[in-house]
Amino acid sequence: MNVLVLSGGPRKHGRSAIAAKCIAENHKTDLIDLSQFALPLFTGEESQPADSQVKKLKEAAEKADGFVLLSPEYHGGISGALKNALDFLNSGYFAQKPVALVSVAGGGKGGINTLNQMRTIMRALYANTIAKQLVLDPHCFDMEAKALHAEPAGLVNELMDELALYLEISKQIRKL
Ligand SMILES: Cc1cc2nc3c(=O)[nH]c(=O)nc-3n(C[C@H](O)[C@H](O)[C@H](O)COP(=O)(O)O)c2cc1C
Repeated sequence: MNVLVLSGGPRKHGRSAIAAKCIAENHKTDLIDLSQFALPLFTGEESQPADSQVKKLKEAAEKADGFVLLSPEYHGGISGALKNALDFLNSGYFAQKPVALVSVAGGGKGGINTLNQMRTIMRALYANTIAKQLVLDPHCFDMEAKALHAEPAGLVNELMDELALYLEISKQIRKL
């Protein structure tokens, strides 16, 4: 089963990029890290689907059986980068696919707004967003090692196990 981690952190050296890389490496998923991706601003112009980065994003989303959507919390919400990327994708890329949500927040009890916004957007795209979700605060990160500490890494494992369960269920449903 193919899982795509779509990371909406725009900062190349941000915590979202670290979390996304850790998840993708430890769980052998595909990764689109928007901090490494020169995605144009969505305008709806007819020329945009021909853009190489837009094509890459669409190909990765098409191939995915499920997603991990990851966003930093900026001003009480998801990053503009993630919303822009999602505006290139329609429900055909998400319908009936399981999605796990991770938000990367500032440690002041933030993160839940971002999770809720991602959940609303995923509902609009007919995805099956799983109930289990995760907020990663700054203390979750070993910034020198550019890694997650053991305890949050364990929470990520639990989230990914849950996602795997729903991936299996969605596979069975597709066979019906
Ligand atoms: C523009 C901006 C707005 C932020 N707003 C919030 C916020 O509303 N709530 C919160 O918990 N953290 C907020 N933070 C802190 C970030 O969520 C935190 O630094 C996190 O690591 C961001 O991910 P990044 O390192 O990938 O950029 C904000 C940070 C920035 C740069």
